[in-house]
Amino acid sequence: MITAAQMRDKFAVVTGASTGIGAALAERLAASGMHLVLVARSAGKLDEAAARLSRQHGVTVRAVALDLADADAPARLAKTLADEGIEVEILVNNAGVSTRGPVLDGDPARFRAMIDLNVTALTELTTLLMPAMVARGHGAVVNVASTGGYLPAPHLAVYSATKAYVVSLTQALWAETRSTGVRVVVVSPGPTKTPMNPRGTRSAEAVAATVVRALAGTGPAVVDGRLNALTAFLFGRVLPRRLSLAVARRVLARGDV
Ligand SMILES: NC(=O)c1ccc[n+]([C@@H]2O[C@H](COP(=O)([O-])OP(=O)(O)OC[C@H]3O[C@@H](n4cnc5c(N)ncnc54)[C@H](OP(=O)(O)O)[C@@H]3O)[C@@H](O)[C@H]2O)c1
Repeated sequence: MITAAQMRDKFAVVTGASTGIGAALAERLAASGMHLVLVARSAGKLDEAAARLSRQHGVTVRAVALDLADADAPARLAKTLADEGIEVEILVNNAGVSTRGPVLDGDPARFRAMIDLNVTALTELTTLLMPAMVARGHGAVVNVASTGGYLPAPHLAVYSATKAYVVSLTQALWAETRSTGVRVVVVSPGPTKTPMNPRGTRSAEAVAATVVRALAGTGPAVVDGRLNALTAFLFGRVLPRRLSLAVARRVLARGDV
């Protein structure tokens, strides 16, 4: 559990901080007095956000433009942080991409890039940055998954499989590290209005608020929003798999969420 008082004057690394949920979370953490390291590919957007957040909230904000799907990017980020003497209190693995459509119509190179980002970079950043938190006996790792991680999602199949990995990995890591003092939690948004999903119904700010509440909690997994939590529970755990797949296929083929 991490409280607001523990966040003040400490550093959070937020990946995917140039838009959407990551940008909203960066805003919220800066408002709580956290210094930030913002990571994404868009250098211009990151520099703008860094200048604005540090001016408005009086915190230090470092922008690091990186393509986290590059094989050596997580290690380069960890080295940059170490070289600059930045102790990471909170790591938020939020950067993610999705592709829609039937698996067999998909581009294998795009699938690889999605897995490299959603799965590999998240895993590597966690394993690179969390040991120092464990050594200090405090800190937090928040991994952003999706309600799609709770059920196989036709037409978002590879994406939902990457998010199922994130849900599974994070909960296992939570169990492995419970007694270390480091908070580990997976937060799963449902459809959220961002550049990734312009039709989303929740706001990025609402998801950011859920992440901050999740930091203050103790359980391994949080779904953003009551309706999304109910959907994940029903489709992931209660309904027979044939039925949940049939309904999910109809809804997702229409591209409504
Ligand atoms: N929106 C939804 O409906 C929804 C639902 C469930 C889960 N989620 C999850 O929430 C997280 C945030 O998504 P969002 O909706 O806020 O999407 P978004 O607005 O598209 O933001 C994605 C962020 O990831 C960064 N990013 C993408 N590719 C990258 C790469 N190769 N290297 C480094 N950064 C990269 C993007 O910045 P650059 O383009 O500048 O690199 C951007 O900052 C994702 O993990 C997503 O899967 C979203």
